[in-house]
Amino acid sequence: MKKTYLLTPGPTPIPESVSAALARPLIHHRTKAFEAIFEEVRAGLRELFQTKQEVLLLTATGTGAMDAAVANLFSSGDEVLVLNAGKFGERWTLIAQAYGLGVVELKAQVGDSFNPRIVEEALKDHPEVKAILFQASETSTGVRLPVKEICAAAQAAGVLSVCDAITALGVFDLPMDSWGIDVLITGSQKALMIPPGLAMIALGDRAWKMAESSNLPHFYFDLKKEKKMQAKNQTAWTPAISLIVGLAESLKLIREEGLQAVFARHEMLAQATRAAVAALGLELLAKKSPSTAVTAVKVPAAIKDGKLIPKIMRDKYGVTIVGGQDELEGKIIRLSHIGYCDRFDIVTGLSALELVLAELGHPVELGKGVGAALKVFQSEAIL
Ligand SMILES: Cc1ncc(COP(=O)(O)O)c(C=O)c1O
Repeated sequence: MKKTYLLTPGPTPIPESVSAALARPLIHHRTKAFEAIFEEVRAGLRELFQTKQEVLLLTATGTGAMDAAVANLFSSGDEVLVLNAGKFGERWTLIAQAYGLGVVELKAQVGDSFNPRIVEEALKDHPEVKAILFQASETSTGVRLPVKEICAAAQAAGVLSVCDAITALGVFDLPMDSWGIDVLITGSQKALMIPPGLAMIALGDRAWKMAESSNLPHFYFDLKKEKKMQAKNQTAWTPAISLIVGLAESLKLIREEGLQAVFARHEMLAQATRAAVAALGLELLAKKSPSTAVTAVKVPAAIKDGKLIPKIMRDKYGVTIVGGQDELEGKIIRLSHIGYCDRFDIVTGLSALELVLAELGHPVELGKGVGAALKVFQSEAIL
């Protein structure tokens, strides 16, 4: 018998009560029963996004909401500034280009974040751009971006801030209204602890104003239509009903734990993971600005084929983590601490990692990384 553990930055594990909610008999969506659930979900999402705006639910993965943002905000000939700190930053560029927009791209060194001053400079050099598109947490490199400062720079320059918080919302604090985040996006299979298939997007007043004059083609992702329908607890098209029922349950769990406590837990898990990494003589990829959601770790020199680490962890010990993508393939591993994750998930993941590192020839004193993580847990107030 081998138990399995899902420690990836999406999809993430699902709490038992959410699984039970997902398995409930299907209801029809054009009913009062569905509308009552949808109303509860809308309220929960507004709390999570820390906004008075409508948070729109789309039946899509997170990329669908990124696509919807571009297609509903901009007009042909517009230019945008993309902050590319990795694969998902690059996705903003690809989406914008697919709609024929001009893209000014700032590219970070691998594992680096952005200094807000560089962003301010870029906005001065390119007064024609209409918006900054960026990530709050770049999942491919484990980097956290300075969202508050980027939004302040956008406001000062009179452009929109469009933030992909797909591995950030519900992980660390991103108060949409008080920070002036114009567009905030997330997806279901991360901190929201439900399967993939729902994306969420909220627009502030400035963004809705820009959407009024947008002329890019779109049909399925029509945010104005969704806003009208969702205010009445309905969706434009058939929604992913079961996922919405599951979401009502996961939002209830988040409310019960308390948003600040959820953030504190993620911070503690990230700190414990980083302490373990250091104790094992490993190096973080994102040294200066590591994400609270995912810890990217360089494969040590003694291990020639880094892809073997996730493979052996999964095949031999049942622990699924992920490696690097594209140019980082075989060069990093990524340990996730998002969503339904607690201290002993981290201990389990680190235990398997230690065994595999030792097997592959990286010198490890077994228990050293786990011990460093436990010390962080011991020192934490929220026990
Ligand atoms: C930061 C970020 N943006 C966008 C995406 C794309 O989301 P999806 O795969 O749900 O379309 C992901 C997925 O991991 C992500 O981590």
